[in-house]
Amino acid sequence: MKPRKDLITIESLSDEDIRTILESAVSMKEIFTKSVKKVPVLRGKSVLTLFYEPSTRTRSSFEVAAHRLSADVTTFTPSTSSVVKGESVHDTIDTLMSMKMDYIIVRHKNSGIPAVIARHCNASVINAGDGAHAHPSQAFLDAFTIREHFGAVEGRRVVIIGDILHSRVARSTSCILQRLGAQVAFMGPRSLVPPMRYTGIECLADWDAVFAWKPDVIYLLRVQNERIENPFFPAADYHHAFGVTEQRLRRIEDEGMAVMHPGPVNRGVELCDAAMEYKNCLVCNQVENGIAARMSILYHLTPGTLS
Ligand code: CP
Repeated sequence: MKPRKDLITIESLSDEDIRTILESAVSMKEIFTKSVKKVPVLRGKSVLTLFYEPSTRTRSSFEVAAHRLSADVTTFTPSTSSVVKGESVHDTIDTLMSMKMDYIIVRHKNSGIPAVIARHCNASVINAGDGAHAHPSQAFLDAFTIREHFGAVEGRRVVIIGDILHSRVARSTSCILQRLGAQVAFMGPRSLVPPMRYTGIECLADWDAVFAWKPDVIYLLRVQNERIENPFFPAADYHHAFGVTEQRLRRIEDEGMAVMHPGPVNRGVELCDAAMEYKNCLVCNQVENGIAARMSILYHLTPGTLS
């Protein structure tokens, strides 16, 4: 893989980049499931997590990944920083770059902020989710989880269900899965599924169409009420129309399909409680694989080079 400074989108990666990062994630998982969980690959390097939006999984797993690679990790919390006094993103980055950071992992509610930061500094910038735009590390962990469960991504059929329009996960995960040879379909509220002509992605009308399509993976998106001023549906109506209800779960179990979700799960909205206990529910595998995928991403980026 050619030296690459930043990871902003899956679209910006070559097929070789995608395959290399995914292959290395397998080796990284072998490292951290052993009794000695650390390797000195990033010893002496500084990693900063800069999350302007809340996160449980992405931030903590990037921090664990950086620790496992022996980097020094600093957590920057905007809500307790000079950001609340009005400091701009540019000035915050200048201040933090004076501390000679090598990697900056950034999440922001506005699409495009990680790319702006990447142009502004020598550190490797990793997009940990920007608005409705992209979430590339989620895409890697999703692809890794499907590959681990099925042996390969190529040829698998994955239906992504929910609010596609506002979802950075749908954008990045559908892109990586298609690049790796999977077939992807979308299903969701009609006003929240954009037209997908010429993309190779099928739009399915409802659950009957989903089951008729015979997916290997049912991937539920989180209902993102924080991005929607007026929620479109009461939770119970959403669950009835688009969620994995107990009745749908029985069919999913009978047909051995896998269930995935990026988290956090709204129980009783996207997934019924029983779906979380289903043996082919891969939500915890996704979290575990997030560490390996993020170790691999950190390992393959080169601060101070041009992407
Ligand atoms: N999947 C995901 O991005 O989760 P967090 O918001 O908890 O990081």
